Amino acid sequence: MALLEVAEIHSFYGKSHVLEGVSLEIGEGELITLLGRNGAGKTTTLRSISGIVRPKSGAIRFEGKDMIGREIYEIARAGIALVPEHRGIFGLLSVEENLRIAVRDGWWKLSDVYDLFPRLYERRRNGGNALSGGEQQMLAIARALLNNPKLLLLDEPTEGLAPVIVDEIVKVLIDIKRTGMSVLLVEQNLAVCEKLADRHYVLEQGRIAYAGSAAEFAADHSVRDRYLALNG
Ligand SMILES: Nc1ncnc2c1ncn2[C@@H]1O[C@H](COP(=O)(O)OP(=O)(O)O)[C@@H](O)[C@H]1O
Ligand SMILES: [Mg+2]
Repeated sequence: MALLEVAEIHSFYGKSHVLEGVSLEIGEGELITLLGRNGAGKTTTLRSISGIVRPKSGAIRFEGKDMIGREIYEIARAGIALVPEHRGIFGLLSVEENLRIAVRDGWWKLSDVYDLFPRLYERRRNGGNALSGGEQQMLAIARALLNNPKLLLLDEPTEGLAPVIVDEIVKVLIDIKRTGMSVLLVEQNLAVCEKLADRHYVLEQGRIAYAGSAAEFAADHSVRDRYLALNG
């Protein structure tokens, strides 16, 4: 049984039909990337899984349990954590306060995320609003880990970051994957996706246009030309 199974979901903003039957699966311990051009529906897919957007039809099952119609906090408690595009950190709280309010019993402790992100330890007394973009992203990921989820949803974690910081985030994601965490990564940077993913999905206009293993994707350059050319 897949850890997460998304089957034919249809999601809307008002009357605008954004997801037109999206299906995907994530197995225990897998890191999957969801690719696609701007506006394809990637963020809406993550919002639908985490309950911020409620699909009108279709099914979302997590560990075999139905998730559609549940409250956001119930979905979080079931073990799904979203790191949103705009990171959602509290600017007026210190780094450590941001982390402490996220802690939930489980495997990841404050000291573990400080080991993973030494930079956050150095900055622990700084305000959230005094961090660089890369540090904010690290803080957002650290907070999600302290929720001790089974599935981590990441929305473009490297967007707008300098290449050295992107490399740091990639290293951290490799470490997170090694712990056995399942990850659904939305990412526009193909090099990042290829370093991390077991499998890829490509969304196009609210539908899954391609699904393949890392090896199949690497060998099939036509996929890039057809669906991703604008992203380089
Ligand atoms: N809050 C919203 N209200 C109305 N339309 C939205 C909203 N958010 C996104 N959309 C539209 O839904 C489509 C998919 O958006 P999104 O899921 O953000 O795509 P992606 O993350 O792939 O760039 C786009 O056409 C976008 O304009
Ligand atoms: Mg998006």
